[in-house]
Amino acid sequence: MSARFAHQVVWITGASSGIGAALARAFSREGALLILSARRADRLEALREELGRPDEVLVLPLDVADPRAIDEAAQQALAWRGQLDVLVNNAGVSQRSLVEETSMDTLRQVMEVNFFGAVQLTGCVLPSMIAAGRGHVVNISSVAGYVSTPLRSAYAASKHALRAYSDSLRAEVSGRGLWVTVICPGYIRTEISKAALRGDGTPKGEHDQAILSGLDPELAARRMVDGIRHRRRELSVGGRETWAIAIQRFFPGIVALLLPRTSPE
Ligand SMILES: NC(=O)c1ccc[n+]([C@@H]2O[C@H](COP(=O)([O-])OP(=O)(O)OC[C@H]3O[C@@H](n4cnc5c(N)ncnc54)[C@H](OP(=O)(O)O)[C@@H]3O)[C@@H](O)[C@H]2O)c1
Repeated sequence: MSARFAHQVVWITGASSGIGAALARAFSREGALLILSARRADRLEALREELGRPDEVLVLPLDVADPRAIDEAAQQALAWRGQLDVLVNNAGVSQRSLVEETSMDTLRQVMEVNFFGAVQLTGCVLPSMIAAGRGHVVNISSVAGYVSTPLRSAYAASKHALRAYSDSLRAEVSGRGLWVTVICPGYIRTEISKAALRGDGTPKGEHDQAILSGLDPELAARRMVDGIRHRRRELSVGGRETWAIAIQRFFPGIVALLLPRTSPE
């Protein structure tokens, strides 16, 4: 077994399914000590068992939309091995609703989970990383962090915000032994579209076709871990849909022309 993250403590939020669970497997293969967080503790326990290194995995249930719980979880995470090397802010929820059908509660919930949760968690662990003179914050944004498609106004806003925050953070901490990586997945085959919120806050309940035909999460996670190991500033992972980032950057007019003609689910 290669052990490129041996003795390193890696905290992954949203580890109960999809990309987060796949990241846990990929980091485990690299020898990392893992802290696994999400709301569904049973799934985290099952993953811990599956990984077969129970002493090297801490299950730390957490709702990242609960500010008080975040503070408490961060204390426990930092106390576990007395260090935190990598924080992966991966927990996320998507949205499938028109702007005029999206309640403020739903919009706030998406921002709480995808943006404020990640920001608060980062703030909790940053002082210890700065004091140690090392640490890596990995924020999972999205292609939607560049390209705001229909039915995803709150989601795209949260992912743009997370990317913007990460860029400021990187500029502040670079040169102090800290690294910040932003990952922008395209379509990855996970539960993201099934769990996506409709305008009234209820889950959509079924998968999008694009997500069902997306990249295998285990393969995506391997690419992500490679990017993290190489301390990439930013990386996109997915299929051709990730080209949208470059097209948006260099030809925004084309994207604006095409988006109203797409028929997102
Ligand atoms: N799949 C894609 O195509 C895609 C594309 C771009 C970006 N992303 C991003 O990738 C990340 C992972 O998503 P995924 O695709 O793996 O979807 P997923 O299978 O639905 O996983 C989402 C994870 O987030 C956790 N989560 C949701 N709300 C939470 C909360 N309030 N507190 C704590 N954990 C919470 C879920 O766990 P619990 O329900 O147990 O809490 C679950 O583990 C997200 O940030 C997503 O926006 C995914």
